[in-house]
Amino acid sequence: MLYRFLFRVVFVRLNPEVAHELVAGAMKFLSAVGFLRAKKSETTKTVMGLEFANLLGMAAGFDKNGTLIRPLHALGFGHVEIGTVTPVSQPGNPKPRLFRLPKNKSLINRMGFNNDGAAAVAARVSSLRLKNQNLPIIGVNIGKNKNTSEENAAADYLEATRLLAPVADYLVINVSSPNTQGLRDLQRVSALRPVLEAVLTAAGKKPVLLKIAPDLEVEEILEILHLASGLELAGLVISNTTVSREGLVSEADTGEQGGLSGPPLAKRALETLILARATVPASMVLVSVGGLSDAADFRNRLALGADLVQGYTGFVYAGPLWARRLTKG
Ligand SMILES: Cc1cc2nc3c(=O)[nH]c(=O)nc-3n(C[C@H](O)[C@H](O)[C@H](O)COP(=O)(O)O)c2cc1C
Repeated sequence: MLYRFLFRVVFVRLNPEVAHELVAGAMKFLSAVGFLRAKKSETTKTVMGLEFANLLGMAAGFDKNGTLIRPLHALGFGHVEIGTVTPVSQPGNPKPRLFRLPKNKSLINRMGFNNDGAAAVAARVSSLRLKNQNLPIIGVNIGKNKNTSEENAAADYLEATRLLAPVADYLVINVSSPNTQGLRDLQRVSALRPVLEAVLTAAGKKPVLLKIAPDLEVEEILEILHLASGLELAGLVISNTTVSREGLVSEADTGEQGGLSGPPLAKRALETLILARATVPASMVLVSVGGLSDAADFRNRLALGADLVQGYTGFVYAGPLWARRLTKG
């Protein structure tokens, strides 16, 4: 109730990125003063050999720099995927770069991998681990720097892996953000293979997953699934934001460029989940993300073969109790 009131009266009037920073600041403060504290979970579920308090995680992009891991855990997320982190820090695209479509409960973003860089984020997570026993599973989503060419992309992913694998529970290779020019070209099998191989060699025993775009043709998805199975990746994250504007209701497209997230993405994310489950070995972990709305949707994704589920936009619109509501029981 309070969140809905604040959202309507305060947040909607604020620039969305300023609102995000305010919420993040409040979460950090409440966590630091001990008001927002995660209880130790009594039951856990084992996925990829890791013990998750529950099967719901915060998707990449909400906590780009690993500063919100404890408050997100306290709000009920069993894992937090931080990042995307690039080897070198970068400012991202010019603002404004985040837009709300409230009637669709959706967002459009073209953040462009604004982040503190791999060394700084690795140091932060390492220090967090030293100081805390009770942490969620921490995934680290990695990408290439804006100015790195396609030929040098594998070296960027290798460098990010070298720095971040030691502090991560699992790694996610992001080649699917629409906001770094040319990034999605890395999803072509010929360009993708050297990236995956580079990360796998540097990741040691840490599970490595690949996050794909929802805008691929079925043939392209199948090629990627076969490559991922052949290289024995731990899993796939399905999917990132979409450049399509299909499925928007009762509100004209804003005309803003970027990736659309929220309910219009759900259909495509679920279709791809079903295709992947029917194609890859049962041992390969599938993480369903895109338009996650409520507890029934959460259960449905697990029933369709997802091993883990993530959300971002649903949390922004529903508020701080969302993760607890979804994972209750
Ligand atoms: C503002 C914003 C920033 C995002 N940044 C990243 C990112 O850095 N890396 C990434 O892999 N996905 C990023 N995403 C995509 C989300 O992780 C997720 O795949 C997508 O939003 C679909 O889930 P949702 O509909 O529950 O939001 C971002 C999404 C939003 C809304």
